[in-house]
Amino acid sequence: MSSPTSPVQRKKVTTHTFRTKKARGELITMLTAYDYPTALAVDMAGIDSILVGDSLGMVVLGYDSTLPVTMEDMLHHCKAVARGAKNALLVGDMPFMSYQASVDEAVRNAGRFLQEASMGAVKLEGGRERRAAIDAIVGAGIPVMGHLGLTPQSVHQFGGYRAQGKTALAAKRLLDDAILLEEAGCFSIVFETIPTQLARYISNRLEIPTIGIGAGDGCDGQVLVTHDLLGLFDRFTPSFVKKYAELHVVMAEAFSQYKLDVEQGQFPTPGHCFEMPDEDWNAFLESVG
Ligand code: KIV
Repeated sequence: MSSPTSPVQRKKVTTHTFRTKKARGELITMLTAYDYPTALAVDMAGIDSILVGDSLGMVVLGYDSTLPVTMEDMLHHCKAVARGAKNALLVGDMPFMSYQASVDEAVRNAGRFLQEASMGAVKLEGGRERRAAIDAIVGAGIPVMGHLGLTPQSVHQFGGYRAQGKTALAAKRLLDDAILLEEAGCFSIVFETIPTQLARYISNRLEIPTIGIGAGDGCDGQVLVTHDLLGLFDRFTPSFVKKYAELHVVMAEAFSQYKLDVEQGQFPTPGHCFEMPDEDWNAFLESVG
């Protein structure tokens, strides 16, 4: 059993580890991180994989959606995460319009995640319409994680953040897309907000592991947005999230207490201060007359 302050001794997690875990029936753990201290804590907890998600845009940068996030935003945060996490498999999320416009751009941008930001893989959203881009990125030796279901970069096409794959037709399309992503060489697929039976069915049909978020308990692993899990995101919490803490409240209380302490002269106390030796202080006073 690991404690939060004693790191789990373990080997570097790779895409191969993902496959092995699925083959052994061991569930895969994944969380998001966007900065050094969070990556350090997630890694120390022994989580298999860290996703530097473009959810960054909403939970850290304060945008209303993930659409404004740029390559430069992503690389900046991926670099910080890579400095903190040594064992987890690091997955960089390709932001909106970094892989949709052309296959060449998709490969170049995917490459930047590995070359400049020390990621071990990239994730991108979509099914059959991404086949050419995925073929080319995998062909360049870059591991790709797929993402199907409620893909937030298509929020305007969906008309809101709605569960996907809920009709027979939509479920069949999702199954076909998942098979296509596996054939294209994805090492894993995220299923976001799709029915539990469907996620379980497809997970059983695929050789590669599936990672669910709002997709029930039939996937080969789970991912959550860390700010949701910690209760750090103030705007809303999706119903599929289990909150393990209320850090927003803890932060607000700490800041209020600090304000009070400063205003009432309770901080700093002598223990937080540095004194000059009397001799030096007197010499200083003499020197200024
Ligand atoms: O950006 C993100 O955090 C994600 C997860 C929700 C899977 O894509």
